[in-house]
Amino acid sequence: MMARVLVGCETSGIVREAFLARGHDAWSCDILPADTPSNRHIVGDVRDVMRGAWDLMFVAHPPCTRLTNSGVRWLSVPPPGRTTAEMWADLDEGAALFSAVWNVPHIPCVAVENPVMHRHAKARIAGYAPPAQTVQPWQYGTDPDGPDNERKRTCFWLRGLPVLTPTGTLDGTTARDSVHKASPGPDRWKQRSRFFPGLAAAMAHQWGDHAARAYERRAA
Ligand SMILES: C[S@@+](CC[C@H](N)C(=O)[O-])C[C@H]1O[C@@H](n2cnc3c(N)ncnc32)[C@H](O)[C@@H]1O
Repeated sequence: MMARVLVGCETSGIVREAFLARGHDAWSCDILPADTPSNRHIVGDVRDVMRGAWDLMFVAHPPCTRLTNSGVRWLSVPPPGRTTAEMWADLDEGAALFSAVWNVPHIPCVAVENPVMHRHAKARIAGYAPPAQTVQPWQYGTDPDGPDNERKRTCFWLRGLPVLTPTGTLDGTTARDSVHKASPGPDRWKQRSRFFPGLAAAMAHQWGDHAARAYERRAA
């Protein structure tokens, strides 16, 4: 039982590898090369790559800095070196990418990950609906010292997929806050948007298998 899975906007390969480990035919794609070279990474715009025949597409945190609640202040007071017009243009671009992947017509199972959005972003997204669920990485972890024991509110917009059931044994009391405390520097955005292996494994298991079963029903 195997699904063809596209993981868009991912250079780390964390989600792609989780789907591969579960036996799915998984590929990542990003406009940047993979962090670790892989023959299962496509360099390109996810809007082009998604045109292929995929059973499931997961888009990992598409560029979201202009869509999120935490960044809404930049729309009225831009950061040093940027103009208000540029900030609004970035917002339009981010919303257009989100709209394109969220509304892709031919992929039966779609999940998009993003933080909580502000009202200007919601207004620009075609067919906007509230996220189906919000999860925390620690809910999918078992080791208090492991990489999943982190606090980071993550929203999933889902189409054709069930909400994820937590698989972990942690209760959140010892969860770290590394995402918000990531040290300043050129790689800060990468550290902040890196995915979590326990959550990725749950997605591969629950969503990958759901997409494969849906494929078998369509093919029967
Ligand atoms: C916030 S990061 C997500 C990182 C991801 N969670 C991971 O573990 O690799 C957003 C990613 O989207 C990529 N990106 C931006 N626009 C894109 C596009 N149109 N098509 C594909 N990837 C894109 C960026 O290069 C960046 O790697």
